[in-house]
Amino acid sequence: MTTLFRIEGAAKRFGDFVAVNGVTLELPAGRLTAVIGPNGAGKTTLINLATGALVPDSGAMYFKGEAITHLLVHHRVRKGLSRSFQIMNIFARLSVLQNILVPVLARRGRAGFPFHRMERESEAMTEARRILREIGLLDEENLPAGALSHGDQRLLELGIAIAPAPELCFLDEPSSGLTPVERSTVMELIRRLSAEQRTTFVIVEHDMDVVFSLADWIVVMNRGEVLTEGSPAEIRENRAVREVYLGV
Ligand SMILES: Nc1ncnc2c1ncn2[C@@H]1O[C@H](COP(=O)(O)OP(=O)(O)OP(=O)(O)O)[C@@H](O)[C@H]1O
Ligand SMILES: [Mg+2]
Repeated sequence: MTTLFRIEGAAKRFGDFVAVNGVTLELPAGRLTAVIGPNGAGKTTLINLATGALVPDSGAMYFKGEAITHLLVHHRVRKGLSRSFQIMNIFARLSVLQNILVPVLARRGRAGFPFHRMERESEAMTEARRILREIGLLDEENLPAGALSHGDQRLLELGIAIAPAPELCFLDEPSSGLTPVERSTVMELIRRLSAEQRTTFVIVEHDMDVVFSLADWIVVMNRGEVLTEGSPAEIRENRAVREVYLGV
């Protein structure tokens, strides 16, 4: 498998606290990687480093072989990197459709505002509606995003994350706070999108059902370090993982 993303010895401290402590990781194209680990293990910080929200104190990142360690977030998005957030990150007062149009238009080199001439941007509209159909929110396109149920808002977030048509997409706890039905909708969507092979996904997830049913590869973090990584079968049998994380 070709390496899509490489993190080399990345470290990040907040004051005296080392949140990410020399992480090296390879993310091959097409492999759905799950990053697991206890609260505070450094999972979100690692995503922040990979996507450019934070700059590492040391170490380097390479996307398709190119060093991107100090590249700004929007430049990384242009290159094909995207993410969703652990905490809801939608424009509550914009319509569902407009929430998707913002990243679709950004990809086309246009800012999303104002929206009043949008009807003429027919290709962007078609593209946004295709994504809404994909996430099952086409019927809700004119609702303010804030009026959606929590589960539908998380689906919308997923739509926003995939709208730039990323090659690599980090999803930070996509199933958190969802009902079992909503959770399986999100899982199905990630599985389907991943199978299409246009986007490589990395998910951070606490729900082990989600992790073990979706992931091709599991990275276990603990105290800012990679404790181990392996196939789901290997991780399930790993004693250190069971002690640290699965608690058995
Ligand atoms: N901006 C910050 N300033 C200070 N400390 C931070 C900051 N961001 C994260 N931390 C600390 O770094 C550690 C790792 O946090 P991080 O959010 O990466 O963990 P996580 O693995 O995503 O945890 P969770 O599963 O709870 O989401 C935590 O102890 C957290 O309190
Ligand atoms: Mg987190």
